[in-house]
Amino acid sequence: MEDIVLQTQRGSRGIVIDDDWPGYSLELFSYPAHYTGDLQCVVVPHGVIMDRTERLARDIMDDLGDNDIVVLCVLKGGYQFCADLVDKIKALSCSSDRTIPMRVHFIRLKSYLNDQSTEDLHILGAEDLSFLAGKNVLIVEGIIGTGKTLKALLKHVEAFQPKMIRVAGLLVKRVPRNTASPPNYIGFEIPDRFVVGYALDYNEYFRDLNHICVISDSGKMKYKI
Ligand code: HPA
Ligand code: MG
Repeated sequence: MEDIVLQTQRGSRGIVIDDDWPGYSLELFSYPAHYTGDLQCVVVPHGVIMDRTERLARDIMDDLGDNDIVVLCVLKGGYQFCADLVDKIKALSCSSDRTIPMRVHFIRLKSYLNDQSTEDLHILGAEDLSFLAGKNVLIVEGIIGTGKTLKALLKHVEAFQPKMIRVAGLLVKRVPRNTASPPNYIGFEIPDRFVVGYALDYNEYFRDLNHICVISDSGKMKYKI
């Protein structure tokens, strides 16, 4: 069971984006016209996400190469990161003599309404994860906010007795109340602000945006439920 204990092997917080970083002006990038006025700034441009993901794929390959893994993609917010991460690992598996045979499984979590984390966490598609027993599992999350979701998910997954669990999170928020262990692989550490894009949503909007952006107050009002 010792293997199950999460360790941040590389001790990396990823690319750290400071609280006073104003972001890039939206004028400098293209984005869907239907979101005009709904965004404040670009925090992480799409190209930078892709470059960082490529490096995470290499780190994962260095650590886990030649092991079979089950990738557990946490929907919906993790779908784009997971797809791109798996693509990059596949590319490395073709171009080097080490490979990672991967199976990909999807589970769906929901805990946010508007920009607030709710107490009730729903795990869908996770009823029977018994095939994880004895396997190396890589959980792939788009964003870790309060850490509550990840904690609950880890507890759930651990119950199926995998051999090892690693977590890759594209974004980790600097949240004072975050008590969860950090992911093993982190793309970016970001300020505690509500971000959207690259599959991250605000009430299901903004998943169709390539860059990671801060939503504007008027955007919050417009899509509030
Ligand atoms: N954006 C979208 N979804 C989220 C966030 C966020 O900032 N934090 C936790 N889930
Ligand atoms: Mg969401």
